[in-house]
Amino acid sequence: MTVNRKILLAQRPQRMFTDACFAIVEEPIPEPGDGEAVVRVEYLSLDPAMRGWVRDERSYLPPVQLGEVMRSGGAGRVVASRHPLFPVGAGVMGMLGWQEYAVIGGSSGVRANPVPDGVDLIDSLSLFGSTGVTAYFGVLDVGQPKAGETFVVSGAAGGVGSIAGQIAKIVGCRVVGIAGTKEKCSWVVDELGFDACIDYKAGDVAEALRDACPRGVDVYFDNVGGDILDAALQTMNDFGRIVACGMISRYNDSELSPGPEHMTNIVTRRLRMQGFIVIDFLARFAEAAMQLAVWAGEGRLTNRVHVVDGFLSAPTAINLLFDGGNIGKLVVKI
Ligand SMILES: NC(=O)c1ccc[n+]([C@@H]2O[C@H](COP(=O)([O-])OP(=O)(O)OC[C@H]3O[C@@H](n4cnc5c(N)ncnc54)[C@H](OP(=O)(O)O)[C@@H]3O)[C@@H](O)[C@H]2O)c1
Repeated sequence: MTVNRKILLAQRPQRMFTDACFAIVEEPIPEPGDGEAVVRVEYLSLDPAMRGWVRDERSYLPPVQLGEVMRSGGAGRVVASRHPLFPVGAGVMGMLGWQEYAVIGGSSGVRANPVPDGVDLIDSLSLFGSTGVTAYFGVLDVGQPKAGETFVVSGAAGGVGSIAGQIAKIVGCRVVGIAGTKEKCSWVVDELGFDACIDYKAGDVAEALRDACPRGVDVYFDNVGGDILDAALQTMNDFGRIVACGMISRYNDSELSPGPEHMTNIVTRRLRMQGFIVIDFLARFAEAAMQLAVWAGEGRLTNRVHVVDGFLSAPTAINLLFDGGNIGKLVVKI
């Protein structure tokens, strides 16, 4: 193969991503410059945050510009190298973008990390990538659950939520998930060991939470925001913690929607609600990856990956995150 296919951002989405948002271009496979390596990308990580990265507004990263390669995490192997730390054959992961070959290091501006021998590339994007690490720090550092407390997580059958709930189980919490189908709920209870799971499309979530959490909620790990956050606010115990990890129910909105109605509970119940971005914990990523590996090795953590085949599937597959079509971490195999 001599051609490098790239998917560029052509137009900003109004709501969901559409084909018109992207343009496919073909270029020769790049040669590495001094201090650079060329990676053949094997997997792309699809993340809800990508919807935020294409908004033309201030955020924790600059917006992807029209005509740029769509930003995304990726993992692959070095095929040509003039980089001292990345020999040919080495596994790497980083912000490789929607392209089949990526230049890393040197003047490319793309930082990549080695994937240790013995670690699957796909795990470097899921359990040991930002998904697992987000769950780890979100639960332990931000949520700070204690054994015996009740921990609720929304997006429970997704990449972050499924790991977050399992970590809270390891801590010794009663864990209740919230997810969008009966099948997802059965998976987190039967396979992951959650104590209960609420299908939020099947009825009143606040009422279901009261039933599933008779002693109230101590930690709510929020992946979705909106009405489900409002339902959680109604069931929080005094001095409870809300981990604001993500608010996917709002990511496709073109106008700001009203906030939750039960915000006064933050005052009366002395709640702490804290947002975080996983890169805040960059210096401690190795700690998280090591602990996650230990738990996985002990059989206490199940990592499910939803793999979609084909580079050109990426623009369509990303919408699975928004229509609930994925179970576990969503990845495209090139
Ligand atoms: N703070 C950070 O640093 C950080 C890092 C990574 C991810 N995140 C956030 O963590 C959350 C989960 O990310 P992920 O990568 O693990 O994705 P994911 O949970 O694997 O996939 C997204 C899931 O969100 C649910 N969803 C979509 N629209 C919804 C809506 N309107 N209401 C309720 N649920 C909805 C869907 O499941 P259902 O079938 O259950 O609806 C979908 O499967 C996202 O909010 C993401 O932005 C934050």
